[in-house]
This record gives sequence, C-alpha cells and structure tokens, in this order.
Amino acid sequence: MLDENKVIVRIPGWSSLSSGVPLRLVHGGRAMVVVRLDDEVFALEDRCSHQDVPLSQGEVDSGHRTIECWKHGSRFSLDDGAPSGLPATRPVPTYSASVEGDEIVIVLPASD
Ligand code: FES
Repeated sequence: MLDENKVIVRIPGWSSLSSGVPLRLVHGGRAMVVVRLDDEVFALEDRCSHQDVPLSQGEVDSGHRTIECWKHGSRFSLDDGAPSGLPATRPVPTYSASVEGDEIVIVLPASD
C-alpha cells in the first residue's frame, strides 16, 4: 500500500558513485548527502546539527562509518546520524536508502 507520508526518490548512477565520496543531492528543497561504502548506501540530511553547514563538504571515514563536519569536526554515524564528538550533540536525520539495479532509492518523509 502506498504511504502518502513518504516520497520515493530514484537517482540513477549507482555504478558511477565512488565509495567514500559524499554526494549532495537536492530533492523538493531537501538537501541530502548520499554516501556509498562499497555495496552499501546511506542518506542523511545534508546539514550539520550544530550549525547550518553542509556535511557533504566533509570527509567520510569508511572504517568508522562516519562523516565529519568540516567546520568543527563532529562526526556523524552514517547508520543512524548520531554524533560521536562535540560540539554537535543532536543526531542528523537519516533516510532509508537502498540500491535497485543502477538506481539509488531513497525514502523521504513527504514534509517536515
Ligand atoms: S558546524 Fe558542524 S560541528 Fe560545528
């Protein structure tokens, strides 16, 4: 059954997405950072929870499965968005992401 509270976004190009390189995507005014780690894909809101800066400009630590905010260095889990260091104390929203064929499929809430 179709969930009216969800929006499914399909992005082509999975095979050309480099592992560990963050990709910024904007859909319907919502900015996301998409990260591939080998055969896994993650999607988070592209905004640090400390200040309004894009996480997509930070670096991915594939071993710890985190992305680091370039401004003050907080790291956020790619799995659940939880921060692992100050100054950020709140998690970053994450979105369900998967791969179907050569498409990245992200499920977003319809609105905030
Ligand atoms: S703006 Fe990201 S940790 Fe401060």
